[in-house]
Amino acid sequence: MVNNRILEITPYQPGKPIEEVKRQLGLSKVIKLASNENPLGPSPKALRAIQKALPKINRYPEGSCYYLRQRLSRHLKVNPRNLIFGNGSDELIDIIIKAFSCPRDEIMTAEATFLEYKIIAQQNGRRPKMFPLRGFRYDLSAMKQALNKRVKVVFIANPNNPTGTYVDKKEVESFLRDIPKDVIVVFDEAYFEFVKEKDFPETIRYVKEGKNVIILRTFSKIYGLAGLRIGYGIASPELVGYMERVRQPFNVNSLAQEAALAALSDTAFVRKSQALVWEGKRYLLRHFEQLGLEAIYSAANFILFKVNKDGLTISQELLKRGVIVRDMCQYGLKDYVRVTVGTKQENEKFVEALRKVL
Ligand SMILES: Cc1ncc(COP(=O)(O)O)c(C=O)c1O
Repeated sequence: MVNNRILEITPYQPGKPIEEVKRQLGLSKVIKLASNENPLGPSPKALRAIQKALPKINRYPEGSCYYLRQRLSRHLKVNPRNLIFGNGSDELIDIIIKAFSCPRDEIMTAEATFLEYKIIAQQNGRRPKMFPLRGFRYDLSAMKQALNKRVKVVFIANPNNPTGTYVDKKEVESFLRDIPKDVIVVFDEAYFEFVKEKDFPETIRYVKEGKNVIILRTFSKIYGLAGLRIGYGIASPELVGYMERVRQPFNVNSLAQEAALAALSDTAFVRKSQALVWEGKRYLLRHFEQLGLEAIYSAANFILFKVNKDGLTISQELLKRGVIVRDMCQYGLKDYVRVTVGTKQENEKFVEALRKVL
């Protein structure tokens, strides 16, 4: 009755929603620093665009995301044919696996990384081939050595979630050099807009050079549109063409398209969000140091830190004080906790609660 291959899947456990925690623990004020969302809310321009678009939701959405495609191609300086849109970048992970591999092929990624690569591979009957991180970073040279005929797609989250670490331009170029032609390399850059490190790779160049590279980005993080579900991929028109064959015709809803279009031109909001995260990271790192906790260097909008008890207990204790963070059990990092950078007040509340819990 049931498809046996789904039995080995551990479903994705998302960060707890604020309302649920309030209800369960009888708290009136709860802050969520668990899902790497933008604490400033959505881009105000996006909100206005959604309100304007509401009376038209009796119609099916624009199947090709025409206007957004044109606008985004100018923004990224790529051809509109280099783009594909998804119901969140999550959906594009599924589309990529379906388009470029067959059942029993291998999907390569790291062990402590975004869980969806493994889960979606398993849902599709592909074999996840996962490599331990080295110094909390993707070990690209070990991964390259282990490539074989069965590996069809490699997922590299850059910066990586949950560690916040990144692989630099030199490492990426050495990984891509002489890589077998039929391997698709996916750079999942969900946190791209928060990165200011100079040696971060400019992956769009590899797409323009005709490499088998797909870049994934999202409107869920810096643009504050996680609830609308919209992300995009950048790749050669040939690879986009294959992916289009497995994409559902109306996968991106019309409000998401309008919101994303407006959010792209809201540069003031993007800058404000970047400044908030960069300042917030400095604040949090200072306090981790004062508390004697080891924190991992992060190029994204969250920080992984080591606790002296187990991370699950610490997160549960924080939850009782109205602060939702993410324990790392599912990632095999039991002594660690991941916190998303919040507003100044949220960061202060988190530090105060953490101090008490420790
Ligand atoms: C590395 C990475 N990729 C993709 C996603 C999912 O993004 P989306 O909301 O666009 O599906 C996340 C979300 O946390 C992420 O951390």
